[in-house]
Amino acid sequence: MSRKKVTILDIQKRKQTQTPITMLTAYDFTSAILVDQTDIDIILVGDSLGMVMLGYPGTTQVTMDEMLHHCKAVARGTSNAFLVGDMPFMSYQPDVAEAVRNAGRFLKEAGMDCVKVEGGREIADTVRAIVRAGIPVMGHIGLTPQTVSQLGGFRIQGKTAVAAQSLLEDALALQEAGCFAMVLEAIPATVATQISQRLAIPTIGIGAGVGCDGQVLVYHDMLGLYDRLQPRFVKEFGQIGKAITTAVQTYTEEVRSRQFPAEEHTYPMNEAEEAAFLAAVAGR
Ligand code: KIV
Repeated sequence: MSRKKVTILDIQKRKQTQTPITMLTAYDFTSAILVDQTDIDIILVGDSLGMVMLGYPGTTQVTMDEMLHHCKAVARGTSNAFLVGDMPFMSYQPDVAEAVRNAGRFLKEAGMDCVKVEGGREIADTVRAIVRAGIPVMGHIGLTPQTVSQLGGFRIQGKTAVAAQSLLEDALALQEAGCFAMVLEAIPATVATQISQRLAIPTIGIGAGVGCDGQVLVYHDMLGLYDRLQPRFVKEFGQIGKAITTAVQTYTEEVRSRQFPAEEHTYPMNEAEEAAFLAAVAGR
């Protein structure tokens, strides 16, 4: 499929034309090529890679070096989708100047088109500074996995009227600070719909219902590659994990029964050369 590179203007236009935005994570060169061959709008190199690629218990362990390493691989495999690099825990929270420098590395060194940060009003000044440096910022509120310990676990947010109102205020503050789009994670559909209607910038939901301006899922979740966490909001669009274990088991059995490699997987030798070689080794 040949198509043009998706830009920030295309993403903003989707909200005006009410065309749902599609976003999916990818973490390496091959998966980026596969995802980018589709009509997807945005590829997110999420810090969820800590769990699904690196085997950490959560996302807080992920470092800048790990994020940049994976972002570079995804950028090499992507021609068309808009690329979002997730800033890892403690790369933007302690210090605004350091946050701007780290955000810059995602664009300069790793080929991303923007960065994503988690948090509400408390990070508005940081967002403002990153945007002022010329770097587009995607916000992320609701269930913010980097602060899961503070939230008391991976749980739905904004369930009470007061908590829902507070989320709306966070969303408005982030928009005012300059975010061009915002992820809404694990919040009731009514709250996400209200936030989406009140914001001029697009919202991208995960576990936030159909009233958002777009949707995002984790590659490994939607393909059935990772079953350690199975939130209610995940739909498996494929069972690739099962297909992989079946293929590997068949390979193991065929090697053991000498069915593999067959003749078509084997390099033949010129007949005369073969005869000469066998005669030479027979005499040894
Ligand atoms: O890291 C990630 O994959 C994310 C998505 C779940 C939005 O932040």
